[in-house]
Amino acid sequence: MFKLDPIKNMNEEERLKYMNLLLKSQLSSEEDSLANISNATAIIMVCVDRLNWAGFYILRGEQLVLGPFQGLPACNRIDVGKGVCGTAVKTRKVQLVPDVHKFPGHIACDSASNSELVIPIINEDKIYGVLDLDSPEKNRFTQLEKEYFIKFVDILNEYIDWEII
Ligand code: SME
Repeated sequence: MFKLDPIKNMNEEERLKYMNLLLKSQLSSEEDSLANISNATAIIMVCVDRLNWAGFYILRGEQLVLGPFQGLPACNRIDVGKGVCGTAVKTRKVQLVPDVHKFPGHIACDSASNSELVIPIINEDKIYGVLDLDSPEKNRFTQLEKEYFIKFVDILNEYIDWEII
């Protein structure tokens, strides 16, 4: 059973480190990729506060299709190049958006979202989708979080076979 107690007194960096340790532990104890990325979203929600949405969009052709997530029901499909997620795929670059209302073409799936961090999932030069994090606070995401979430996706890439998701 998962215990929340260790996280309570940790500072931001300790929580982020712990999040990546929990992810490794999950990925090394289960081989099913769908179970693993589902629990990955739960691990994020437990370790990172002030989020209203965390989840995956998986690239299928020219569209991103909703994958496992935590939060309110969200847009099922996003075109490549559209919104923050589609831009992350098109540019293959992390999108750290302090105020989504100033991002041209931002897609408002949850009206509570005010800032967003999107990490493209790229393995051996092929792009498979994105990890999307939303917060109700403006300027919520830090450079430190960006670094740890890039590492989070690196760890996923070590274990997940994205071809079968
Ligand atoms: N805001 C995103 C859409 C996905 S939701 O935030 C879950 C975007 O602009 O791509």
